[in-house]
Amino acid sequence: MALLLPLTLFFHMILLAAAGGQWKLLQNNLGIVAMHMQLMHNDRVVIFDRTDFGFSNVTLPHGICRRVRHNQTNLTIDCTAHSVEYDVASNTYRPLFVQTDVWCSSGSVEPHGTLIQTGGFGNGIRKARIFKACYTPTCDWEEVGNALAAPRWYSTNHILPDGRQIIVGGRNQFNYEYFPKGSESESQGSYTLAFLVETTDPKRVENNLYPFVFLNVDGNLFIFANNRSILFDYKKNKVVRTYPDIPGGDPRCYPSTGSAVLLPLNLKNNSTVEAEVLICGGAPKGSFQRRNRGGGPFLPALDTCGRIKITDPHPQWHMETMPQGRVMNDMIILPNAHVLIINGAHTGTAGWENGRNPALNPYLYNPVGVGSRFQILKPSKIPRMYHSTAILLRDGRILVGGSNAHSGYVFDKVEFPTELRLEAYSPPYLEPSFSHLRPIIVAPGFPMNVGYSGSFRLRFYVTASLIPNLVSVTMLAPPFNTHSFSMNQRMLVLPTKQLMNINDEESTYQVEVMTPASPILAPPGFYLLFVLHQEIPSEGIWLHIQ
Ligand SMILES: *[C@@H]1O[C@H](CO)[C@@H](O)[C@H](O)[C@H]1NC(C)=O
Ligand SMILES: *[C@@H]1O[C@H](CO)[C@@H](O)[C@H](O)[C@H]1NC(C)=O
Ligand SMILES: *[C@@H]1O[C@H](CO)[C@@H](O)[C@H](O)[C@H]1NC(C)=O
Ligand SMILES: *[C@@H]1O[C@H](CO)[C@@H](O)[C@H](O)[C@H]1NC(C)=O
Ligand SMILES: *[C@@H]1O[C@H](CO)[C@@H](O)[C@H](O)[C@H]1NC(C)=O
Ligand SMILES: *[C@@H]1O[C@H](CO)[C@@H](O)[C@H](O)[C@H]1NC(C)=O
Repeated sequence: MALLLPLTLFFHMILLAAAGGQWKLLQNNLGIVAMHMQLMHNDRVVIFDRTDFGFSNVTLPHGICRRVRHNQTNLTIDCTAHSVEYDVASNTYRPLFVQTDVWCSSGSVEPHGTLIQTGGFGNGIRKARIFKACYTPTCDWEEVGNALAAPRWYSTNHILPDGRQIIVGGRNQFNYEYFPKGSESESQGSYTLAFLVETTDPKRVENNLYPFVFLNVDGNLFIFANNRSILFDYKKNKVVRTYPDIPGGDPRCYPSTGSAVLLPLNLKNNSTVEAEVLICGGAPKGSFQRRNRGGGPFLPALDTCGRIKITDPHPQWHMETMPQGRVMNDMIILPNAHVLIINGAHTGTAGWENGRNPALNPYLYNPVGVGSRFQILKPSKIPRMYHSTAILLRDGRILVGGSNAHSGYVFDKVEFPTELRLEAYSPPYLEPSFSHLRPIIVAPGFPMNVGYSGSFRLRFYVTASLIPNLVSVTMLAPPFNTHSFSMNQRMLVLPTKQLMNINDEESTYQVEVMTPASPILAPPGFYLLFVLHQEIPSEGIWLHIQ
């Protein structure tokens, strides 16, 4: 009884009236579960599931098939696709052929805009895979044989200032490596990271898989795993700082999956750039173990967020409370530098059959808000449980897909059937009532090439009369999303000057925008650039920084 009462109260928590935003069904059958997603600079989204647990709902073209052991049992001929390319503009998709198993893998886009995916399971666990963006329906996955020094399953990738990616951890991997390999010594493989041993629970429940990795403004990596975090000099293989444990001590990483973002970096202050990390949700300590022990309870998820200024000499966690507990939540930085918390469940943990009470309402978090920084937004009708994804599109919408808590495609007699529907969520800033405030970028066209410590002129049009000090410019690296974490998600608020009206009658303005000073602030690659007016964003344009 003692346990039942709080749970009952919890289920009856009343959600405040939620009005913000709009949901739209894009595809009733995407063919596959969107377990991993990456937006490319041609406005197409590369999506993939896993290859080894049954047939999907889309057939490969040209009679292509594979021989595969489904669900670790019998060899089967499988002629279905486990990856697709989704074209945002036409709302269509085409099947792709991913050759080996990409289950619970990771990735990052390299400086020229090619997706590099690493690891997976079984025959795919030491592979890297390359997907080059193309405009004709010709590009497909290419594989790089034994690309990885260690088998990587549930790792996290991050793009580095030199354009390579670092791959951190994974199941039973207490180390990191690079792709591609650089110097001779690196080609020997991976480097030990004791922090990953320390954050593994003695009872072998990791809670440190898919660690939250961010490139700090000093060039070191912030790494959060389980309930702890460090600042790590990867070049010297040295921990340079240990942060306080997150208050409460509950785990935040897989399978107690919460999520995390590096809050937007404001480059407007020339003397210092401060960096803050926000971690929200997860499952309390013991939740996964209890659930997995003979079908135990679905415990309430954590309702706290921890926020820490990682550049502060004496950093402290500041805790905030979400409207409701949430696990397997995605956190997405919006063009206007707010954070959207979307997908997931109110009870349970990550893992097969482990979630209940879908969290249908997105929350909006305003990093500079006073009082409660959360706002409850309009709910979806589709539960997005384990293996769901969400990414920002260039037009400001959020693409939402996936959800599959079963070890196969299961559509009948389960509480949360395998979900093949693809939706778009339009945040409140896209509402037509804000059209008059919305900037429209008229020049330059895109993709636009820029260098570091430079500047460029941006022209935009606004119908309403402009409030000059409420104009800002942001750039955002489109992340690789899987298992509720967006790897490489990074926003910079750029300094601007000389905002001027260049055509009174047509309300066209020009502003000079300064580019980041170094690849430590913004690793080379493709970013989305937005102009904001009174927090209403334009459509993005692609900016390529090198
Ligand atoms: C996917 O295929 C299964 C079985 O082949 C079928 O029952 C289900 O309706 C299909 N789902 C969609 C969305 O087409
Ligand atoms: C595997 O093959 C055996 C023998 O053909 C068959 O009896 C069994 O049902 C198969 N198992 C699965 C999971 O398909
Ligand atoms: C952090 O997690 C570890 C491993 O589960 C646990 O032993 C430790 O007590 C936790 N820290 C706090 C402050 O609760
Ligand atoms: C710029 O950074 C310095 C050093 O952290 C700080 O003292 C100052 O207040 C900041 N200025 C603004 C406008 O944020
Ligand atoms: C920042 O400082 C540098 C060197 O003092 C200067 O060249 C640059 O223009 C400044 N940038 C901004 C945005 O004020
Ligand atoms: C895959 O195997 C697991 C464990 O043997 C089983 O529980 C599950 O039902 C299987 N899934 C499918 C789709 O056959």
